[in-house]
Amino acid sequence: MIQELLLIANWKMELSVSKSIELCKQTAATFTQANNTKIVLCPTFPALYPAHQVLSQSNIALGAQNCATKDKGALTGEVSATTLAEIGVSYCIVGHSERRQLFGETNEQVAVKVTQLLSSSIIPIICVGETRDERQQSNTEKIIGQQLAALIRVVEQFPQATYVIAYEPVWSIGTGTVPDSQDIQKVVTFIKDQWQQMAPKSTCLVLYGGSVNETNTPTLISVEGIDGLLIGGASLEFQKFQKIVSLCQG
Ligand code: PGA
Repeated sequence: MIQELLLIANWKMELSVSKSIELCKQTAATFTQANNTKIVLCPTFPALYPAHQVLSQSNIALGAQNCATKDKGALTGEVSATTLAEIGVSYCIVGHSERRQLFGETNEQVAVKVTQLLSSSIIPIICVGETRDERQQSNTEKIIGQQLAALIRVVEQFPQATYVIAYEPVWSIGTGTVPDSQDIQKVVTFIKDQWQQMAPKSTCLVLYGGSVNETNTPTLISVEGIDGLLIGGASLEFQKFQKIVSLCQG
């Protein structure tokens, strides 16, 4: 059976606005039909509005990489979920490990951001995952359990929303190393079970992210329960991303 997969390209701060728009145009021109996949492109903030203009006639969705914890106010340098929605953003990454590690984003702040996003009808892509140390100490489920539990108030407020949870082992991001399929499947099952208990009426999609490439994609998408992929480095070059999408389209 062919799965419907959600494929999210996280371009981080790697591309200029012009390069981002070029990639949006190439992606929109190549993948006009949905064909078993939903593609979401997440460019840098200043590229979002021009990207929306390129993508609005396609079925490719636009995602942001972060949002503020408040709707408006004296928060120099921040961008609210309301503003993101206004310029056509329909998905937003929150709690990426780079934001947790480099900018001190906490589980509590992630929860507030998810509330902001859902209040603006933006689907949150919530990143969870363990560090190498946490894995070595067999604390993977404990850490992810805490990251999910911090969202309990949000799911009480939005019990029927769609949530995307991206399992991204921190030690796998940008390193070329991915966990084996069994380990991924264990975590995916754990996330789905936890979520089912927390928010049985919601829709929860679980993605894998961390060193996804054209070679490991077939293995990753065959992991039971996987609903898609969050792709960093390999989404920056159109040929590589195109290959990954084509493999997912079957
Ligand atoms: P990577 O990044 O695919 O380059 O490992 C994934 C991510 O950070 O979301």
